[in-house]
Amino acid sequence: MKDIIVQSLKQVSLQDNDKRIHVDCPQGTLYVNVDFYMITQALKNIVHNALVHGPEGGRIDIHVRLLDQKIRISVVDQGEGISKETLAKIFDKFYRGAQTKRGGLGLGLSIARRFVQLNEGDIQAENLSPKGFMVTITLPMVDKE
Ligand SMILES: Nc1ncnc2c1ncn2[C@@H]1O[C@H](COP(=O)(O)OP(=O)(O)O)[C@@H](O)[C@H]1O
Ligand SMILES: [Mg+2]
Repeated sequence: MKDIIVQSLKQVSLQDNDKRIHVDCPQGTLYVNVDFYMITQALKNIVHNALVHGPEGGRIDIHVRLLDQKIRISVVDQGEGISKETLAKIFDKFYRGAQTKRGGLGLGLSIARRFVQLNEGDIQAENLSPKGFMVTITLPMVDKE
C-alpha cells in the first residue's frame, strides 16, 4: 500500500509543488490485493484535486488508518470544499464545480470511483468544518505474513 502512495505522490508532485504534503501511515507493511496502476491513478486524481482546490501554500494531509480487515486512506485539504447540492455530483462523469478555476474535464473523480469500485473498495467525500475537504478511499486488506 505504501508503494502506491509513494508512487502517486511522485507523479503528482512532478506537476505541482507549492504545497506541503504530509503522510501519516501505520508502521509495517500493509498488504492490499488491488491493481497497482488503478489505485495509484485514483489516488493521484484525488491528490491532484487537493492541490488544485486547496489554498496557495496550504497543506495536504494523507492519513492511512487500519480498520477491521480494511484500510482507509483520507486525503484532506484546507480549501473551501464544495456546496452541499453539488457534493453528491462530484463523482459523476464530466461534472465540474461551478466556481472551478482550474482542473480538468471533470473526469478525475469519476475515474477514481470506477477504479476503487473495481477493486472492491469504496470512495466518499465530505466537507470538513470549519474548513477543508476530505476524500476517503476504503480498500479491503489481505492478511499476509
Ligand atoms: N479537493 C476539492 N475541493 C473542492 N472541490 C473539489 C475538490 N476535489 C474535487 N472537487 C470538485 O469536484 C469536481 C469534480 O472533480 P474532478 O472529477 O477531479 O474534475 P476536475 O478536477 O476535472 O474539475 C471539481 O470540478 C470540483 O468542483
Ligand atoms: Mg480533478
